[in-house]
Amino acid sequence: MRILFHSPAHKAGPWLDGLQAALPEAEVAEWQPGVPPADYAVVWSPLQQLVDDQPRLKALFNMGAGVDALLKLRLPAHTQVVRLDDAGMSVQMAEFVCQAVVRHFRELDAYEADMRAGRWSFRRPRLRAEWPVGIMGLGVLGARVARALQGFEYTVHGWSRSPKAIDGVRCFAGREQLQDFLAASRILVCLLPLTPDTRDILNRDTLGRMMPGGYLVNVARGGHLVEPDLLELLDRGQLAGATLDVLREEPPPPEHPFWGHPRITLTPHTSARTLRDESIAQIAGKIRALERGEPVAGVVDREKGY
Ligand code: NAP
Ligand code: GLV
Repeated sequence: MRILFHSPAHKAGPWLDGLQAALPEAEVAEWQPGVPPADYAVVWSPLQQLVDDQPRLKALFNMGAGVDALLKLRLPAHTQVVRLDDAGMSVQMAEFVCQAVVRHFRELDAYEADMRAGRWSFRRPRLRAEWPVGIMGLGVLGARVARALQGFEYTVHGWSRSPKAIDGVRCFAGREQLQDFLAASRILVCLLPLTPDTRDILNRDTLGRMMPGGYLVNVARGGHLVEPDLLELLDRGQLAGATLDVLREEPPPPEHPFWGHPRITLTPHTSARTLRDESIAQIAGKIRALERGEPVAGVVDREKGY
C-alpha cells in the first residue's frame, strides 16, 4: 500500500514520520509531480495536478473538517473524500466559541478598557435569558459547541439541514425554519460547511432578522459572510459586534476595514486547529478499515458538498 502526503500549509517531515509510524506496512512519501501511483493521499489544499497524476487513489483524506477547497477540484468518481471527524477539533471549537460568547455577554472588552483607563467600574449584570445563542450547523462541531454553551446555562438554539433532536436545544431545520431560528437568536454562531447553499448566508437580510443588538461569531468560512453587510449592520446598531475567525481573504489586505475595527475581534483562522497526532491516528484507523472493506465515518457526500 502506498500513501502520499501533500500540504502547502504544514511541515511535511513530522507528518510523513507520523503516518509511517502509524502504518509501518505502508510506503509513505511526499507527493511530487510524477511520483508512482498511490492508494491514498493525505492532503490540504492540493493542486489539481495531484489528482490528475494519481488516478488510482481510493481515498483522499482532507487534513481538516471543511472540504470546500478540495471539492473545487475535478475528482474521479471512484475516489472517496474523507474529512477529519473531530480529531481534537471539537473541544477547541467549544472553548473558542464559549470565550467569544462569554466575552461579549459579560462585557469583558468594556471592563478591560476601563481597567486600562484606571476606572474601577461596574455594569448591571445582563440577563442570560435575554441572550439566546443560535448555532448554524449542528454537526460534529456545532453539537459540541451547543453542549458547552449549555454548561453555562445559555439558552441554545440550533439550525441544520435535516431535523435534529438534541437534549435542551430547540432545533430548527431547513430554509423554511431559518427566519424563526434567526428571530429567536441574539448571538449567532456559524458552524456550517461552505457549500453553494450556504455561501453568503450571513448577510444584511439574515443578520437583520436576529434580535436587535445581536452578536455574530463566524468560525466556519469567510465565504459565509457578506462583509460589507456586516459593516452596515454594525453602523446601524442592529448588531453590537462580531468575532471573526475566518475571512474571505486570509490574511486580509492591510486596507481591509475589519483591521482595528472597534467592534470586531479578529483571529487568524485558529479556532480549531488540525492536531497532528490525533489526525494521523484517525486517518490510519480509517485506511486500515477501508483496506478491510469496512465503511468509515466522515466520507463526504459530494452532492451535498460536505
Ligand atoms: P459537519 O459535521 O459536516 O456539520 C455540518 C452541519 O451543517 C450539519 O449539521 C449540517 O446539517 C449543517 N448544514 C450543512 N448544510 C446546511 C444547509 N444548507 N442548511 C442548514 N444546515 C446545513 O461539519 P463540522 O465538522 O461540524 O464542521 C463544520 C465547519 O466548520 C467545516 O465545514 C469548516 O468549514 C468549519 N471549521 C472551521 C475551523 C476553524 O478553525 N475556523 C475548524 C474546523 C472546521 P445536517 O446535520 O442536516 O447534515
Ligand atoms: C479548518 O478550517 C478546517 O476545516 O478543519
